Amino acid sequence: MQSVRNGIVLALVCGVLFSAWVLSATAEDDKAAKKDEKAAAQAKDDADKKPAPKKVAMKLFMRKKLEASQNILEGLAVEDFDMIATGARQLKTTSAAAEFMVVNDPMYAQHADEFRRIADKLEKSAKEKRLDGATLAYVDMTMSCVECHKFVRNILLAEKAK
Ligand code: HEC
Repeated sequence: MQSVRNGIVLALVCGVLFSAWVLSATAEDDKAAKKDEKAAAQAKDDADKKPAPKKVAMKLFMRKKLEASQNILEGLAVEDFDMIATGARQLKTTSAAAEFMVVNDPMYAQHADEFRRIADKLEKSAKEKRLDGATLAYVDMTMSCVECHKFVRNILLAEKAK
């Protein structure tokens, strides 16, 4: 009698284990299929969003600008006027190069002009070893980065909405 009971219990346990395995295996298959679907959708998305070469170049220029402005901040912090002046020059050349990337928009040109004017002011203050003046120009410059980006973002949004 005891062994029959043991047999039944064993059979039950095996049954439970087996169905658990079947369930988890199908769940895995499901997950794998979903993953494939997701990967395909992502690949399509990426292809649609693939940035134009112009945009890639713009990003590189802007990364350079960011680098230059970080150098300037370091120069201000340690009172290294050469570092500030070099950063300001770097900003001017990079923004001149980035100019070519954007077609003919008078407002954009205005932002770019303003930015160059501030970079000039920054370089001049550094050459004249005026730390406060250079620091003020740095703040102006940061405002000008943000203002132009606000403008650009609005334009991009407007174009997307078209
Ligand atoms: C005259 C306009 C203008 C000024 C001034 C400007 N930018 Fe930009 N910036 C742009 C444009 C246009 C983009 C590209 C936006 C896009 O296509 O997504 C951009 C994008 C960027 C990006 C994002 C790059 C990426 O990897 O996507 C960074 C970082 C950046 N700018 C840094 C700066 C810094 C730092 C300054 C100031 C020192 C600055 N920018 C000043 C126009 C400007």
